[in-house]
Amino acid sequence: MNIAIGSDHVGIELKPIIIEYLETLGHTVKDFGPFSSERTDYPQYGQKVATEVVKKNYDCGILICGTGVGISISANKVHGARAVVCSEPYSAKLSKEHNNTNILAFGSRVVGSELAKMIVSNWLDAEFEGGRHQKRINMIKDIETENNR
Ligand code: RB5
Repeated sequence: MNIAIGSDHVGIELKPIIIEYLETLGHTVKDFGPFSSERTDYPQYGQKVATEVVKKNYDCGILICGTGVGISISANKVHGARAVVCSEPYSAKLSKEHNNTNILAFGSRVVGSELAKMIVSNWLDAEFEGGRHQKRINMIKDIETENNR
């Protein structure tokens, strides 16, 4: 898969570990920054990665900030983004199977690198089940359309 990744300054140490892990699994990864540990603001990286994913330039996205919360909220403001913040693999897996999430976020202050890898692999390996879940995804899309009027 082609994967877009981004973080903020708090997620910057965990990010290369996740990139290396993804490459080991055979994926191609594009880093959308930041590229130094200088203090920065997570919304711009959440927006960048989400925009690339929604435009279908990448198959999916991964975002890392301190908690994963701010950067996932930012990503979810981009219409078509379905970002989930996870600190354990079960929700990561179910978020793909039921909610067809296209972006995974986690917090470098919350999960260690090995748990983060487990969350990532469970999310990547899972597949959207469609069926009754598609109806609910359509309802989410309707909310976006209604709020765009
Ligand atoms: C930055 O201090 C911190 O707020 C950020 O990394 C993230 O945890 C926000 O949700």
